[in-house]
Amino acid sequence: MGINIISTGSYVPEQSVTNDELTKFVETNDEWIKTRTGISSRHISAWEPTWHMGAEACKKAIEKSGINPDDIGLIICCTITNDFHTPSVACIIQNEIKAFNAMAFDLNAACTGYIYAVDTARRFLETEDNMKYAIVVASENLSRITDFTDRSTCILFGDGASAAIIEKSDKLYSSYLASDGSGARTLFARCIDRKEEFADDTEFDDGFVDLVKSRKHALVQNGKEVYKFATKALPKALEGAAKKINITADDIDVIVPHQANLRIIETAAKNMQVSMEKIIVTLDHNGNTSSASVPLAFDEALEKGMIKRGDKVCIVGFGAGLTYGAIIFEY
Ligand code: UT7
Repeated sequence: MGINIISTGSYVPEQSVTNDELTKFVETNDEWIKTRTGISSRHISAWEPTWHMGAEACKKAIEKSGINPDDIGLIICCTITNDFHTPSVACIIQNEIKAFNAMAFDLNAACTGYIYAVDTARRFLETEDNMKYAIVVASENLSRITDFTDRSTCILFGDGASAAIIEKSDKLYSSYLASDGSGARTLFARCIDRKEEFADDTEFDDGFVDLVKSRKHALVQNGKEVYKFATKALPKALEGAAKKINITADDIDVIVPHQANLRIIETAAKNMQVSMEKIIVTLDHNGNTSSASVPLAFDEALEKGMIKRGDKVCIVGFGAGLTYGAIIFEY
């Protein structure tokens, strides 16, 4: 069983921060950021909670589709920047969009979240007889977990949200989802503190605990390791999904990759012998918005007429976990 994406909608904070503006906080420059990443600016939320951005994106998608929110049976919100440990962002969004007949939960697969969530939604649509529509929304407030004194990370990330309304269909579909927990330490942001008196970390003390403790709640990454992983994971996921339906990268019309770094995308494209012309790139003005990056790029490509009904599209992501995955579907 495949999916039909009925409509999409996005929300990005009004505030756009240029590379030059980041020089106020760290020693960097526009040229370094552009050449090493391809990023020129990113949106940073002024006050918007994660749930607000997600709800706004959903409202736009619902409005475009003309569906009745009562007919939405499932809301999955992918995020690594929840407003609360509980309740989920998805439940708050449910109330905002008045989709009172839906089940709602959050999904954390980091930057691969949207790929995992769309495939999860498809499985629910297939098995729940009375489920008409699902909403998958990715909403990320990465600026809340960004260390603006760390120049190796703060230049990368941005905020935003994007949603899609999905129904089941017989159209072409294939997915490949994977994770490699052995790489968990290469990209992380720690959880809330606990009372020191109760903490006995000696059992786990192999140096990592000290590193985690020293970095507050911000994203920490080994950029070079993540880079190496990403250039391999992207082709592996795409080719894994293609193989399941006996097609190759050549047969895909449009590729929407996770928007982390232009050099990662270019290297992966070269390795797959795929022309950059069929790859959607929006990171120059959005930066890396984790799970929101793929749907934001997908929605923008639709708006610009770069994806048409009938196209074979591949959405592909990689990120913390480490996680990676791809979906090939007919739009
Ligand atoms: O969603 C997944 C999230 N993560 C990623 O996708 C990250 C993957 N990794 C990357 O994109 C790249 O590794 C980075 C963009 C993070 C870094 O690029 P790089 O080419 O690997 O640079 P580097 O870390 O090797 O640093 C090169 C130099 C260093 O100086 P020295 O030691 O050569 O003197 C850094 O200190 O550039 C310096 N540097 C900077 N200079 C100016 C690091 N960050 C900056 C900066 N501005 N913002």
